[in-house]
Amino acid sequence: MIFAEAMMPCLWLIPGLLVFSLAGAIEIQVPDDPVVALFGRDATLCCSFSPDANFSLDKLSLIWQLTDTKRLVHSFSGGQDQLADQGGGYVNRTALFYDQLPQGNVSLLLRRVQISDEGSFTCFVRVQDYSSAAVMLQVAASYSKPNLNLEPNKNLKPGDLVTVTCLTFRGYPEAIVLWQDGQGNNFTENVTTSQVANEEGLFDVQSVLRVVLEPTSTYSCLVRNPVLQEETQASVTITGQHLTFPAVALWVTIALAICLLGLLGALAYVCRKKIRQSCKEEEENAGMEDQDEDGEEPKTALQPLKSAENKEDNEQEIA
Ligand SMILES: *[C@@H]1O[C@H](CO)[C@@H](O)[C@H](O)[C@H]1NC(C)=O
Ligand SMILES: *[C@@H]1O[C@H](CO)[C@@H](O)[C@H](O)[C@H]1NC(C)=O
Ligand SMILES: *[C@@H]1O[C@H](CO)[C@@H](O)[C@H](O)[C@H]1NC(C)=O
Ligand SMILES: *[C@@H]1O[C@H](CO)[C@@H](O)[C@H](O)[C@H]1NC(C)=O
Ligand SMILES: *[C@@H]1O[C@H](CO)[C@@H](O)[C@H](O)[C@H]1NC(C)=O
Repeated sequence: MIFAEAMMPCLWLIPGLLVFSLAGAIEIQVPDDPVVALFGRDATLCCSFSPDANFSLDKLSLIWQLTDTKRLVHSFSGGQDQLADQGGGYVNRTALFYDQLPQGNVSLLLRRVQISDEGSFTCFVRVQDYSSAAVMLQVAASYSKPNLNLEPNKNLKPGDLVTVTCLTFRGYPEAIVLWQDGQGNNFTENVTTSQVANEEGLFDVQSVLRVVLEPTSTYSCLVRNPVLQEETQASVTITGQHLTFPAVALWVTIALAICLLGLLGALAYVCRKKIRQSCKEEEENAGMEDQDEDGEEPKTALQPLKSAENKEDNEQEIA
């Protein structure tokens, strides 16, 4: 990790400064760990010292500057801000906690943190003696929930080579992208990830997995922000529904279904004709004797004629 490496010189620097400041009267406190600030939010770079009993603000000279370039971020002396030489990028973005200056709290408020703010800031304090210490600012931004795209996404068959594309935007620093299957196993082969910084310095990430399709399979794209220890993910599961039958199998199935329907239709027609025929014959044999349709008399096995008649009526009603 680049940032851990960049941080090391600062951590080594601070004990050196403290040793140096023991010779003078001022001992400055700054955080050992980098201050993590969210992109676009405000950050407080802490720095403080223990003033003498007869300390007054007009004796204080304070300078906040970039450790590397000595560019002026904020300065305060003679009891007020001195911003004439302030670096362009910091105009209107810095302030002190003025009510806390008499207690030796010379922390810097940096508004609307940008990616370019990342780095080391030096807090330089002079009363009678002087001393300085550095604070690391680490900027971070959460990645958006990934979008997944499958290509091709139609007519998929097991054994096809598909590409799954995972897109996530506007994060910082660079993401760690992992691809996993439904069982949590990592895909390491055939993965291509590119991270491109936009004009604000935030990364847009595209990761492409090329894989041979299994019958039922899940592809998850995990995007991890190493500084925020955040993880966001999306997954796509390809089941039988997405998979098409091979074309021949489909047509055979349709043809079989049509045959079966035809067969059933023919059977129904024949049956119906048979029943009508037998009824007519029976009517001719028995004559028209009873028109009662309510069928209040109990039907018994001894009255086959009657039940056949009723059946005929019902069928006609339906037809
Ligand atoms: C008060 O300030 C003066 C210098 O202005 C210094 O010589 C003296 O030691 C200070 N007194 C205390 C008690 O710190
Ligand atoms: C800073 O703020 C002042 C007053 O609001 C404004 O006039 C000036 O343009 C601002 N400067 C920058 C660089 O934003
Ligand atoms: C200095 O002030 C800031 C802002 O109020 C605060 O966050 C910080 O804890 C203070 N530091 C000390 C040492 O009091
Ligand atoms: C997948 O890779 C990550 C990072 O390399 C690792 O932490 C994790 O243990 C791996 N998972 C499996 C199941 O191998
Ligand atoms: C990687 O892609 C190749 C084709 O480009 C394919 O033959 C191979 O099976 C893929 N590897 C894995 C693990 O899917």
